[in-house]
Amino acid sequence: MDAAAIDGDLTEVLLTEQQITDRLGELARQVEADYHGKDLLVIGVLKGAVMVMADFARALNRHIEMDWVDISSYGSGTESSGVVRILKDLSTDITDRHVLIVDEIIDTGLTLSYLVNNLRSRGPASVEILALLRKPEAARMTVATKYVGYEIGNEFVVGYGLDYNERYRNLRCVGTLAPHVYS
Ligand code: PRP
Repeated sequence: MDAAAIDGDLTEVLLTEQQITDRLGELARQVEADYHGKDLLVIGVLKGAVMVMADFARALNRHIEMDWVDISSYGSGTESSGVVRILKDLSTDITDRHVLIVDEIIDTGLTLSYLVNNLRSRGPASVEILALLRKPEAARMTVATKYVGYEIGNEFVVGYGLDYNERYRNLRCVGTLAPHVYS
């Protein structure tokens, strides 16, 4: 879906489709270099990471394996509590594997902090994170993130996997949602 199709719902386009493509290409080159000669298992965090995973995986000029987890954090409204539940676990044994978690955004950091600790307890060779977006001002936990696409402010963003009430995930760009949509 193009931004023009939801004219008025965005106050600003933060990242165009081209900017996202370019940055994922740069990150793919870094990952290729860092994991040269090593097997790599890329794990997407449902549902938001679907777009990043699809484009990042195809930007990589090397073999990878893919798997998915779905995790949900309990919280009231928009506040995450940090209590996380696995809705869909991996179908892969990650013992001695090099694991790269792919997500579209790190907000408070609570979800990925939980996931990294959980995966580390399974005996992988390594666990790193790639996130397209990070909101440093929203951080409640520091999560070591080796690959970050863009740092953004604390505004409510949608598109490219990010939803508001499950909508806008299929928007090609990332944009700031206009207050009239959610107020
Ligand atoms: C989003 C995103 C991260 C998490 C980040 O997922 O994909 O996993 O929130 O937030 P945090 O840093 O504050 O923990 P969400 O729970 O919205 O699920 P979704 O991907 O299915 O939309």
